[in-house]
Amino acid sequence: MSNEEKILDLKNRRETASKGGGEKRIASQHAKGKLTARERLEKLLDPGSFEEFDMFVEHECTNFGLDASHIPGDGVVTGYGTINGRTVFVFSHDFTVFGGSLSITFARKVLKVMDMAAKVGAPVIGINDSGGARIQEGVDSLAGYGDIFYKNVVYSGVVPQISAIMGPCAGGAVYSPALTDFVFMVKDTSYMFVTGPKVVKTVTNEDVSVEDLGGCMVHNSKSGVSHFACENEDELIEGMRRLFDFIPQNNMELPPDFPTDDPENRECHAISDIIPDNPNRPYDVKDIIHEIVDDGEFFEVQALWATNMVVGFAHMGGKSVGIVANQPKHLAGVIDINASNKASRFVRFCDCFNIPIITLEDVPGFLPGTFQEHGGIIKHGAKLLYAYSEATVPKITLILRKAYGGAYCVMGSKHLSADINYALPSAEIAVMGPKGAVEIIFGKDIKEAEDPSAKAEQLEAEYREKFANPFVAAQKGYIDDVIEPKETRHRIIRALELLKDKKDKLPFKKHGNIPL
Ligand code: HXC
Repeated sequence: MSNEEKILDLKNRRETASKGGGEKRIASQHAKGKLTARERLEKLLDPGSFEEFDMFVEHECTNFGLDASHIPGDGVVTGYGTINGRTVFVFSHDFTVFGGSLSITFARKVLKVMDMAAKVGAPVIGINDSGGARIQEGVDSLAGYGDIFYKNVVYSGVVPQISAIMGPCAGGAVYSPALTDFVFMVKDTSYMFVTGPKVVKTVTNEDVSVEDLGGCMVHNSKSGVSHFACENEDELIEGMRRLFDFIPQNNMELPPDFPTDDPENRECHAISDIIPDNPNRPYDVKDIIHEIVDDGEFFEVQALWATNMVVGFAHMGGKSVGIVANQPKHLAGVIDINASNKASRFVRFCDCFNIPIITLEDVPGFLPGTFQEHGGIIKHGAKLLYAYSEATVPKITLILRKAYGGAYCVMGSKHLSADINYALPSAEIAVMGPKGAVEIIFGKDIKEAEDPSAKAEQLEAEYREKFANPFVAAQKGYIDDVIEPKETRHRIIRALELLKDKKDKLPFKKHGNIPL
């Protein structure tokens, strides 16, 4: 072959590989409302930035006639590119090739980009659309999964790992996404489950559809496995690119600056109107968040699950922050099992990747009852204590209204090593709310009083006067200052500036033992 012929041969090989499982299967993928593996990468990455590796890799399996069927690339497209100019490593399952099922050679391709990402210090994005273990390969395929799980764990907290579920994700295959930092799903076309409906029927005699078992809404509103529910693939890709505005490349770097024209000292007059005078009336804490962050933009994480706790990213003074807030609009903002898990995981992500944590607190306590106690609220709530305590990033807490009982301690209190703790004048910091407290301390007096309800009311008023304010805590230095609501944005940004070079270390240990 002449050199020219060799180049032509290369081009032809590339052309064949880029067609994956062929035109017919690509058409079938499109008919399901799904893009192909390469189309997804083209949309996700900056135009022209994608460089592919291992396009010519083929499987080595000879079982069940598979030796007669070789497709270059072997069901996964891997490589690197950029998102807003910053390097990311990617792998994208190609459902048109053996249903995107995982062989050992497929796994080696994925492992190669994961290893490179860790060496270079860049995030890894996995786009999942796969029938699971390649059945013809037997244990080799399982080995491939196991190797990937191991690397997911080894690189957890080293580089961000993000998963998109854009089709089926079945069997053990779900555990790699579950080990990553964020999972995005698409409504109607993506699902995740350990065992499918047929196995469920055999084992438990339950009839359940794919969607009801492990669809996008199930994992975004019920299980908490997924962090983002997207209407379609375009929305997913847009959301994933947006996430990169808040996160660094690796655990040694800071998130990118995000300059803004929103003045740092902008007064937040709306806060006083948002928080009702009556402490028993709800409000939407997201209104407060929108009021204080740069340009009112809040990128919420797990918006549909454990809605009594709000978590997400924003910028303040051009710097990325993670916000954790109780939501008085749902269950009065109590902390329950799911809220504990949601906030703990988010706090730990922020701490892994040098993102300061802003806590906005309005919490009447932990949710009481047998369901919560039998479900282990003690150990799940302890996770939140653990996560806040071990976080060494800047931690700034603002008590908006209620900070009662154990929940006061948990939500980024000074006692868990928060750096700056502010309270608004509307804050109430006490062991419990006035009604409950008075019943416990003065139950007998109230019963014996001439007018029990008048007596209870009088005692509640006295209790509120004594404890339902921020000044007892301020006198003791448990909060650093009581601030006016309109100052909130400015004071938080100043605190972030103060803490930008914060250095804090925990004693040496192999790793802690978070109550799981
Ligand atoms: C090999 C597979 C495959 C697999 C699909 N294909 N799954 N090949 N191994 N696991 C092939 C099909 O033979 C078909 O090939 C093509 O991919 C498309 O599959 P269809 O069934 O036609 O597509 P669709 O109707 O869309 O259904 C998709 C599906 C279904 C729901 C994913 O294929 C399916 O149920 N697959 C098996 C899922 C599964 O049980 N996987 C094993 C899980 S256990 P042709 O040539 O006809 O196009 C597991 C253990 C991991 O993963 C443990 C790790 C620790």
